[in-house]
Amino acid sequence: MTALLFDWASLLVRWAHVMFGILWIGTSFYFIWLDASLRKRNDDPTIAGESWMVHGGGFYLAEKYMVAPDKLPDELHWFKYEAYFTWITGMLLLGIIYYWSAETYLINTNVLPMSAGQAIGMSAGSLIAGWIAYDLICRSPLGRNTAALAVCVFALITLSSFLYANTFTGRAAFLHIGAFIGTIMAANVFFIIIPNQKKTVAALIAGEEPDAIWGMQAKQRSLHNNYLTLPVVFMMISNHYPITYGHPLSWLIAVGVVVAGGLIRHFYNQHDAGALDWKGKVALPAAALAVLALIAVSASRLGTGYSEEVEFAQVRQIVNQHCINCHSATPTEEGFEEAPLGVMFDTVGDIRKYAAQINAQVVLTDTMPLGNMTEMTQEQRDILGAWVAQGAEIE
Ligand code: HEC
Repeated sequence: MTALLFDWASLLVRWAHVMFGILWIGTSFYFIWLDASLRKRNDDPTIAGESWMVHGGGFYLAEKYMVAPDKLPDELHWFKYEAYFTWITGMLLLGIIYYWSAETYLINTNVLPMSAGQAIGMSAGSLIAGWIAYDLICRSPLGRNTAALAVCVFALITLSSFLYANTFTGRAAFLHIGAFIGTIMAANVFFIIIPNQKKTVAALIAGEEPDAIWGMQAKQRSLHNNYLTLPVVFMMISNHYPITYGHPLSWLIAVGVVVAGGLIRHFYNQHDAGALDWKGKVALPAAALAVLALIAVSASRLGTGYSEEVEFAQVRQIVNQHCINCHSATPTEEGFEEAPLGVMFDTVGDIRKYAAQINAQVVLTDTMPLGNMTEMTQEQRDILGAWVAQGAEIE
């Protein structure tokens, strides 16, 4: 019963998280596009541009003011709850999956032995520390130089990737890199972008000139969010792909994704603004090259250190020792009421059927057994790999 409720909690929160994420990214991309689509109008100098749109059978006209209208409307729409709720549901999901079952999902004693409390503390602490470090960098004199700032923020993300990969399970590490960046993005909205917009509006209502620095800061942070969107989404969905997070150089793969995602965004930003220069044009092929490099890195792990002929009895014995406690119609592992994802190895046919997945989870990566709970050895992994490579015979 607990397992059932637990799955429902995780599924419902995940649903909400994905929906809020879609809304956040959707509005953010929409406004970037809208800004780029504005065309100058000659009749009114207070209007920066206008954009005509048709959608769902209706015609829409959006106008952007140079600064602000003389009189603010009674009803002004803000866009902030998408960001806040994406972050809140994300943290809930982190709690439900990784904190609740920290021993299984967060901690890999082969990477760094620690207690559940320590792991949770490090997870939450690192997200807060990441935001503080990022914010300090942006506020420092570096913040005035866009290129230097970009390099520093990139270095911070690289450092976090490396540290996470050497602290948690591969899967948790990847997710934390995403959460680290996502937290920075949501905090940018909460602590900088929205407060600065509020200050600007308050100044306008009071009939004062808004301080230009507010707008500049908000724009800088929005730009960071813009470039970081694609990598974050990748980290979040890569959870189903041990080829990424399960690799010994997973942190490098994460960094490559940040580069590729940023390049793709760069191309679209310039393209949408109708200002595609050579750097923008090169960005897309460069992103494709970066992705090819990632594939090459992830493939560098193929092959196994075991060359002898493998008997099925050896495979059976390894699976019995390391997998069957969870992957069975009647699991004996505490907290498992049914076989995870329906994957079970009770019969010879079952083991044969899942040969490719076993290879992906156990040989190419060390995702299974979860957190290497049963302390599987490298030689045992190599034997399974050789068995698959030799055709997964069950005779
Ligand atoms: C402690 C329990 C546990 C042990 C031991 C364990 N697994 Fe798993 N396994 C899981 C869980 C939980 C999942 C589901 C993971 C998820 O939700 O992505 C899973 C998923 C899988 C999948 C499906 C992955 C996918 O995304 O399709 C395979 C294949 C697998 N395990 C193989 C193995 C093999 C082989 C072993 C033994 C070497 C093993 N597991 C040991 C708990 C375990």
